[in-house]
Amino acid sequence: MRRILITGGAGFIGANFVHYWRRTYPADHVVVLDSLTYAGNLANLQEAQGQPNFRFIRGDIRDYELVRNLLIEERLDTIVHFAAESHVDRSILGPDAFVETNIVGTHTLLKAAKSAWLDRGPAGAPSPHRFHQVSTDEVFGSLSPVAPPFTEETPYAPNSPYAASKAAADHLVRAYHQTYGLEVTISNCSNNYGPYQFPEKLIPLVLVNILEGRPLPIYGDGRNIRDWLYVEDHCRGIDCILQQGRVGECYAIGGDNEKSNIEIVELVCRLVDEKMASSATLRPRFPRAPAASGRSAKELITYVKDRPGHDRRYAIDGRKIKQALGFTAAESFATGIVKTIDWYLANEIWWRQVMDGSYRQWIDSQYGPRAESAVVSPRG
Ligand code: NAD
Ligand code: DAU
Repeated sequence: MRRILITGGAGFIGANFVHYWRRTYPADHVVVLDSLTYAGNLANLQEAQGQPNFRFIRGDIRDYELVRNLLIEERLDTIVHFAAESHVDRSILGPDAFVETNIVGTHTLLKAAKSAWLDRGPAGAPSPHRFHQVSTDEVFGSLSPVAPPFTEETPYAPNSPYAASKAAADHLVRAYHQTYGLEVTISNCSNNYGPYQFPEKLIPLVLVNILEGRPLPIYGDGRNIRDWLYVEDHCRGIDCILQQGRVGECYAIGGDNEKSNIEIVELVCRLVDEKMASSATLRPRFPRAPAASGRSAKELITYVKDRPGHDRRYAIDGRKIKQALGFTAAESFATGIVKTIDWYLANEIWWRQVMDGSYRQWIDSQYGPRAESAVVSPRG
């Protein structure tokens, strides 16, 4: 039985991980530490609140005393560290928060873990523990169209302030293992999608913009490639690492699912159009969606100025976690994207509450006006 601290558990992947973990290991004690930034949302944890073996603490991972006391008082033996500033666009516009949370915050957690787990017991007898760092494939930089996918051996070459801050955090995690013997593992995962994702990231942004009849902004030529993984499969990958992963090792987790952004956007447009065409209840609920008046969501596609330093392609070679730990993704992209769309349709109140449009206007004001955009006509 584990006693587990989940940092960032009120965010997208963290909340999915909380639900996954509580379903899979109901006897485990779960503590969430989250400062509830714009991306953290207590509604994401509604199912768990008030349940036995679950505690939510609003607090900052940079608070050394808070983290150390929690580890000791709650007798926690595992940290799964999700808490981060996670959005690349925000890191371009304001990198300081990324340095603070992703680098200083991770270091504070490491210091507290070292103190609670390594320094308190009799010399030579650390208490059993694990620190798992949830990292990203963005630390590896950008692939050319023909390059082999990233592996655990790919050198770090981060391009955005976000990716650089995650890379720095990963190096600190590694250093605490090499220097102090802290028992760590690291996962580098590709792009996640699924329930509870904040609608600033591509898939939920496109989805809610279609429903609201707003432009679907495509950065640059739309041909940048990402490797998409359903969020619950990421959670299962982390579980495999916690159960069987070798201390000190890194594991790359991917979806074997490379798609260009324009492919993703056109697919979401088609699926939402089909759902609306076949549902008499959806059309009056979302009257501004093009399909409500028999048009295609593709007419909303709008090419805008590119993201500065925009990585061209990410892809993961996931053989290590598959062969060494037996990990396989349960969800295909075809099923995962439909589940995701259904979740956003069923949880309109959730996404209306988390977005008020001001962020998008801010991004537009930074990246240039829509005058630079070309509206793409629906095909066929
Ligand atoms: P998210 O932005 O949805 O959630 C981040 C959470 O961290 C929020 O709940 C926020 O309130 C919390 N947080 C932020 N700063 C904090 C602080 N100083 N103290 C305590 N809590 C704080 O992020 P996400 O998409 O769920 O990503 C989670 C982790 O997974 C991140 O470390 C990210 O780098 C990594 N990751 C994300 C993806 C992806 O596709 N989203 C892919 C690979 C890896
Ligand atoms: O690869 C893992 C990473 O995936 C995680 O580490 C990050 O936390 C997560 O945010 C995600 O980063 P990306 O930058 O790849 O995700 P995003 O959803 O922001 O963008 C996906 C692609 O879509 C990217 O090529 C940029 C493009 N895009 C994004 C937005 C928000 C657009 O074309 N238009 C948009 O409006």
